[in-house]
Amino acid sequence: MTRATVCVVGSGAREHAIAWSLARSADVVVTPGNPGIGGVAPSGHTIRSDPKPPQLLDASLYVIGPEVPLVEGLADELRAGGRLVFGPGAAGARLEGSKAFMKQLCAGAGVPTAAWACFAEPSPAIEFMKSLAPPYVVKTDGLAAGKGVLVTSDLAEAAADVAAKLSGSAFGGAGRRVVIEEAMAGPELSLFAVCDGTRALPLPEAQDFKRLGDGDTGPNTGGMGAYSPVPSAGDAAVSEAMGRIVEPALDALSRSGADYRGLLYAGVMLTPDGPKLVEFNVRFGDPETEVVLPRVRGDLVELLAAAAGGDLRPAAAEAACAPDAAVCVVAAAPGYPEAPRSGTPISGVRAAGTLPGVTVFHAGTRRLDDGTLVTAGGRVLCVSALGSTITAARARAYEAIARVGFEGMTYRRDIAEAAAKSEVT
Ligand code: AMP
Ligand code: GLY
Repeated sequence: MTRATVCVVGSGAREHAIAWSLARSADVVVTPGNPGIGGVAPSGHTIRSDPKPPQLLDASLYVIGPEVPLVEGLADELRAGGRLVFGPGAAGARLEGSKAFMKQLCAGAGVPTAAWACFAEPSPAIEFMKSLAPPYVVKTDGLAAGKGVLVTSDLAEAAADVAAKLSGSAFGGAGRRVVIEEAMAGPELSLFAVCDGTRALPLPEAQDFKRLGDGDTGPNTGGMGAYSPVPSAGDAAVSEAMGRIVEPALDALSRSGADYRGLLYAGVMLTPDGPKLVEFNVRFGDPETEVVLPRVRGDLVELLAAAAGGDLRPAAAEAACAPDAAVCVVAAAPGYPEAPRSGTPISGVRAAGTLPGVTVFHAGTRRLDDGTLVTAGGRVLCVSALGSTITAARARAYEAIARVGFEGMTYRRDIAEAAAKSEVT
């Protein structure tokens, strides 16, 4: 009998972490993958990267990592070919592809979210902004790799950002319309729900760190680190966010004819008025995946295959998570996020990965012909560690990242610091 093979689409640390978790119970091929993805898992299952497109790879389940192929309809195409796919079709992926679509769906479904309006011209956008209290929130309507958001109390800066986004100079076509939002305040939670079209099941919650610098300073990035669980939120916040945000949105999608089978990621703000939606993503979050999946105890292949098949109930127990905590820290290239510098040699990855509980996921790396591992992207590595507490996991993650080096490497020193402090009684 041939062993089940799962195909993961993507090339980042998220796909590395997905592959690593799936390989507990299946052989995994990642397309195109990255230099860190390859070898034999402790289970005996193989993991490999393959440059062939997913259409040419034979697998019993396809898991699509990034938003761009989802928005472009890769899941529909694979399903049309009779394949079992975990990832929404283009109709559902619009939830991330267009913030205006997402906001309209939320309004129709009664999902609590910030007041907003969408503009194609600067003057009405700036007028609307002036009617709101600071800070001002300016977003691109389309995909911008997590970097299309400005939150500032400086009206002139916000107005300049509106003009830059609408001119198309900042994010190309993605910036042709801007969404101006009311500002919300409160701790944030990343909530991952496995969806089978009509039902949703939460995975462990996480919190990520979007700003580049310590103390949440500097520009927004794709994410500089994460931790799970989030003790300050607790199970009650997760249940409330599922009931008020994820489930009504999934119902609305289903009523609109979108058969949403995949991961629905709700970025939630825990405001004094209850949980409110910041954004939906139609895929696993990065770097949250690198702390959420290591905590999932059950069989991820079973769970995702059941959801992809339209009924996750028989596999619901597979979402059970370990009491352990996980912390990950991202090592970024100099110049990230505006203009990261690539091509510098990386050392210490193997030494970091030998620490107990530590896994180094590759985000933006490349292997030269002579075998040298070099940087090849803004976020280069994601060092993830499990521990019995957040404090223990955090200490391991930082001990591990200290073993890694490349010219100009930067990373935040305060990932999960407050959560670790709150554990000390
Ligand atoms: P997004 O890409 O929409 O998740 O936004 C990135 C980050 O910007 C969020 O994680 C928040 O920290 C911040 N943000 C986005 N929208 C708002 C808002 N309406 N109010 C306050 N902060 C926001
Ligand atoms: N960590 C945020 C994202 O994946 O969009």
